[in-house]
Amino acid sequence: MEDFNSLKNKIIEIVDFDFLKKITLSNPIKKGDGLCFKAVVSKITLKDGEVFQISRYIDKKVIHENIKIEKNDKKQSYISIVEKILELMTENFKQCGIYSNRIVTILMNKKKGFKIVENKENIDFEKNTISHNAVKNYIIKEGTYINWLFEIGLIDKNGKVHNSSQKKFRQINRFLEMIADVEKYIPNDGLIIDMGCGKSYLTFAIYYYFNILKNKNIRIKGFDLKKDVVENCSQLAKTIGYKNLSFFADDIASLDTSEEKADMIISLHACDTATDVAIAYGIKQHCKVIMSVPCCQHELFYQVKNDSLKNILSYGILKERFSALLTDGIRGETLKLFGYKTSILEFIDMEHTPKNIMIRAIKKENPKISKNKVTEYYKLLSDFSVEPTILKLLKDSFSEFDY
Ligand SMILES: C[S@@+](CC[C@H](N)C(=O)[O-])C[C@H]1O[C@@H](n2cnc3c(N)ncnc32)[C@H](O)[C@@H]1O
Repeated sequence: MEDFNSLKNKIIEIVDFDFLKKITLSNPIKKGDGLCFKAVVSKITLKDGEVFQISRYIDKKVIHENIKIEKNDKKQSYISIVEKILELMTENFKQCGIYSNRIVTILMNKKKGFKIVENKENIDFEKNTISHNAVKNYIIKEGTYINWLFEIGLIDKNGKVHNSSQKKFRQINRFLEMIADVEKYIPNDGLIIDMGCGKSYLTFAIYYYFNILKNKNIRIKGFDLKKDVVENCSQLAKTIGYKNLSFFADDIASLDTSEEKADMIISLHACDTATDVAIAYGIKQHCKVIMSVPCCQHELFYQVKNDSLKNILSYGILKERFSALLTDGIRGETLKLFGYKTSILEFIDMEHTPKNIMIRAIKKENPKISKNKVTEYYKLLSDFSVEPTILKLLKDSFSEFDY
């Protein structure tokens, strides 16, 4: 059972009041003359702006009361309506249904203890709203106050995304859609490692997705070389009470694969060969999911040679792009070789640089490794005269292949 304040905060956190359709209070404790037997809250627009209109049904009368939605302080208005519905419940209702992006039911027992039942499915946004067709069906909806987004300066206290942060907000949502696609492979109490987490916007986003939106108990560890950045992230996690989110100032190359097995490895924009370190770590630990958005792939630029492509590779910019694509192609092929179903997807990037490829790999149940595939793999490397870091890191693991 939830106490009044934590209940109030939880409702504000999980309900997207911007897209509220209605709130119904039902199942009255007492019925009879002069007692309110039903109450409904709807969002309507009056001359002065939007209000929450509370309609209380008593005998044959309907009594209306409005709570203004302050444009400049929506969060306070949302708090007011939540306080109002809890007050109405305490007076005479055992049940309250809140219909927004999802259905949230609040139940009250005889001792006036509350419980929240959350329908985890997002309702079809188009069907659920009348006039918000222009708003994208993002996992994190604009207008929702979320503490870490506020703390990192992406939204204001009403949940409005700052103009300068729109791209980052879209990127976070796009990333969460990709996370939602692999969610089924991660146990409810799983471990995720973020290698080269930096300021960790996306690390906080994953934590929020699994543990707040989906009510799971996922642990996340973020690693980065930069001590000050790690300290800031740790402080933020502490401030907002994300207990299972911890950060470490370490070189990911020094991490021991015999540590607890991670269920998912992510490495987002980790520089140059740090991506290889992350992928190799995931492969060695047989992690179920590896997601990586590579960045600054310089290594093969200095190695690549190919007679047929000699003239094309004489153009510096083409050589640079080709080397980056070859690097990611080889990373994808390496993952396949080690039994991962691998896809290369497009990922929107904050700075609109060419860092827009995501390598997503999911470990197959009983992967079969054929000798032919290994031969083909080595031929690819020799055709371009390259020996990438990922190969060096996994050399010992190749000997484990049992054809
Ligand atoms: C471009 S930032 C990306 C941060 C974050 N993942 C994101 O997508 O916003 C790359 C981060 O990787 C970290 N990094 C690079 N090599 C690393 C290594 N060997 N060990 C740990 N962190 C590393 C850097 O310190 C930097 O913070």
